[in-house]
Amino acid sequence: MAGRIRVGVLFGGASEEREISLASGLMIAENLPKDRYEVKLLDTLALMARHPCLSPQLRDKAIALQQARPLRSLPSAGELSPAMRDQVERAEALAQSATQALASQDERGIDVAFLALHGKYGEDGTIQGFLELTGTPYTGSGVLASALAMDKVMAKRVLSAEGIPVPRGVHLTGADVAHEGDAAIERAMALVPAVVKPSKQGSSVGMSLVDSPAAMAAAVRLALQHDDEALVEERIFGTEITVGVLGTPGADGLEALPVVEIVPKREFFDYKAKYDPAQCEEICPARIPDEARRQAQALAIRAHRALSCRGYSRTDMILGPNGPVVLEVNTLPGMTMNSLLPKAALAAGIPFGELLHRIVSLALEARR
Ligand SMILES: Nc1ncnc2c1ncn2[C@@H]1O[C@H](COP(=O)(O)OP(=O)(O)OP(=O)(O)O)[C@@H](O)[C@H]1O
Ligand SMILES: [Mg+2]
Repeated sequence: MAGRIRVGVLFGGASEEREISLASGLMIAENLPKDRYEVKLLDTLALMARHPCLSPQLRDKAIALQQARPLRSLPSAGELSPAMRDQVERAEALAQSATQALASQDERGIDVAFLALHGKYGEDGTIQGFLELTGTPYTGSGVLASALAMDKVMAKRVLSAEGIPVPRGVHLTGADVAHEGDAAIERAMALVPAVVKPSKQGSSVGMSLVDSPAAMAAAVRLALQHDDEALVEERIFGTEITVGVLGTPGADGLEALPVVEIVPKREFFDYKAKYDPAQCEEICPARIPDEARRQAQALAIRAHRALSCRGYSRTDMILGPNGPVVLEVNTLPGMTMNSLLPKAALAAGIPFGELLHRIVSLALEARR
């Protein structure tokens, strides 16, 4: 078909959310309207073959991608349902040949990059910087907003400066713990019952709920295995909700999607609850009072604006006794058809293919 826009779906990469990204990317590629778009799947791991962070298996995989050789599947980072594992394997097989172009930095074959990456080297401003350098339009937020939102400690500073309610918290680096020892952990203990998380991660990787001060040191250690900074927050009790926002500040305005209520069947919304539909109920529109819904939607728009997000975002909150409290803003939220933002869009009358089309259009508009 002539005149179609060439979209490179960038996915995979080297973060702990690689597999989630592979599943998101495959769904995006399969659902971008075929009459408008010609789609290639590009695994950004191919750009990273020399990166010192790669495990030997990931390095082999990066080199195999560059040479368009068949890939061996790696053991899973987390527990995936059989359906998800199948998607991951299909996605990797489809990415092979087109990825060679990305590795040789010849991505001129695309008009726009659709970012289906999550976590480090994808959601954190690095790939956005690479695309800025090559002059390729891309979906979602720019370098600054991506880097800010990925860093929960920095994002909370900006959000609270804007008067957006966030949980009380302290942050600890590996160096703090090494130098201050017990004193550092004691500062964190004052927040129990607490949630301890790596500052720059997603999918609840490396997170713990801490109900007793004695469990704090181990939780901080675990978080520090996944990032150089651990964030310890007071635990907010209430109804978990999330709100998607579409649009770019200053353009045609921002639209908050219907609120989604999250009801995990586990202790909290952990990795398993996020990616196994049997482990969590997601209800849209949320069963919360109108006033709380309005507050949550207004907060999501303020958070999107405060971090200068572009195109789309999803703000996670807990509706506590004093109203919604913002946990974090995701600049590249999950984009499988069952993910939270696509579900909210559907409830607003925007089917998945149309949502993808809007996100690409916003990326191309940002360039005009
Ligand atoms: N302060 C808190 N109080 C109560 N629950 C919390 C708190 N912080 C995090 N949680 C729980 O942990 C989950 C993951 O936290 P958060 O959204 O901050 O991290 P994430 O791993 O970046 O998530 P995502 O997968 O959305 O990127 C939340 O969905 C919520 O269930
Ligand atoms: Mg979250």
